[in-house]
Amino acid sequence: MSTLRVKAISSLHAEFSVPGDKSISHRAAIFGGLSNGVCEISNFLSSEDCLNTLKAMHSLGARYEVIEELENHGPITLRIHGQSMKLCAPVAAIDCGNSGTGMRLLAGLLAGQDFTSELFGDASLSSRPMGRITAPLAEMGANIETLGDKPGCAPLKIHASKLQPITYEMPVASAQVKSAVLIAGLFAEGTTSVIQPTTTRDHTERMLAAFRVSTRIEGNKISLPGGQMPESCDFAVPGDISSAAFWLVAAAAMDGSRLLIKDVGLNPTRTAILKVLGRMGARIIEIIHNSEGEPIGNIEIQGAPLTGTTLLAEEIPNLIDEIPVIAVAAALAKGDTHIRNARELRVKETDRITTTVENLRKMGADVEEFEDGMTIHGGKPLKGADIESHGDHRIAMAFAIAGLFAKGDTVIHGTDCINTSYPGFAHHLDAIRHERTKPEDFILPTITR
Ligand code: S3P
Repeated sequence: MSTLRVKAISSLHAEFSVPGDKSISHRAAIFGGLSNGVCEISNFLSSEDCLNTLKAMHSLGARYEVIEELENHGPITLRIHGQSMKLCAPVAAIDCGNSGTGMRLLAGLLAGQDFTSELFGDASLSSRPMGRITAPLAEMGANIETLGDKPGCAPLKIHASKLQPITYEMPVASAQVKSAVLIAGLFAEGTTSVIQPTTTRDHTERMLAAFRVSTRIEGNKISLPGGQMPESCDFAVPGDISSAAFWLVAAAAMDGSRLLIKDVGLNPTRTAILKVLGRMGARIIEIIHNSEGEPIGNIEIQGAPLTGTTLLAEEIPNLIDEIPVIAVAAALAKGDTHIRNARELRVKETDRITTTVENLRKMGADVEEFEDGMTIHGGKPLKGADIESHGDHRIAMAFAIAGLFAKGDTVIHGTDCINTSYPGFAHHLDAIRHERTKPEDFILPTITR
């Protein structure tokens, strides 16, 4: 099991870009593989999760070639050969690794095929709830068995079925559920609709539009007539704001620091973290370069003494993956930060309420745990500690950031999982110690206190 040792830093002046967006890379592999021609996808995230989805599409007939690969686990450019909606039966069960997005979206894809398939994953994925997708898919006529030791959990055996459209009112705000039903809807005769309780990340809707699949969006209701053929297109994946979040918190909480993150996705359903760090006192600007399809641009941030905040209920789905690192920012801020309405955190790669609270306490933070979140009484100095990732990439990275502020060394145990979303994280962690960006590269005026 690999470990990462982190020492405190006293300033951060850097400029870099983060790897491609995980959510968008999964979808690019799926829609590229379904399309009616060849798609070139640049800046595809070459992390374990996304490579598993790409391999899954390959096993369903969609061949791909890597046409460019950068060093240090850098982004890759791919050419995917779309199958014009005609997938072939895989010869073996499909491994989704650690990825809930991969498994749930692929289940939607496979639900309406004329062959049987099986999806499986690692121990963490095999304990995550799949009923949230098997229920609506069953309503559409799918026949999916959950074969896991835990009821309602993977492996999933998906039998050949013909689907009919439904209008599905989602009980949880989940982009994965929305996407699974919409992808299944492509194979149903008639119009499938999904109604979400609150806005969730809209990458599926944007990607459907990029592939010229017509959808109707009325508030939180998304409808799609089945039987449409995604038209092949080239796609550039923006940097992942959830990966940028680690550096944004490091910079926000370090008074006087400056950081420029380039070419990152600025989709408004993903940028709630910027509002939260702004409310806590950091100075942030977003500069959007291109707002067609997936908005992309730069984020510039200046650190400040932070104060606690309350996360709004409607913000939660738009920063759900950033909560562990926001909790670290909260521990470094003065005053209380309230994170509630976030029960979904309990069914992520780990129970992220427990793993965040447990590790914050190990580092000396004062935290109260609730069923749906936590309150962090910030401002207590952090001390280095032995941290367990429990195999959760975002826990490993969030606590590496905490280690930058702690007295004494912080050792994160079990850091292999970082490769599921951010290969190259350790390299960037090392780089921020040495980088010195020229002040003229920044737009925000320097503040002197
Ligand atoms: C994702 C949606 C979110 C998020 C996950 C990626 C997606 O999950 O936590 O990391 O790509 O659709 P839910 O939609 O289930 O909350």
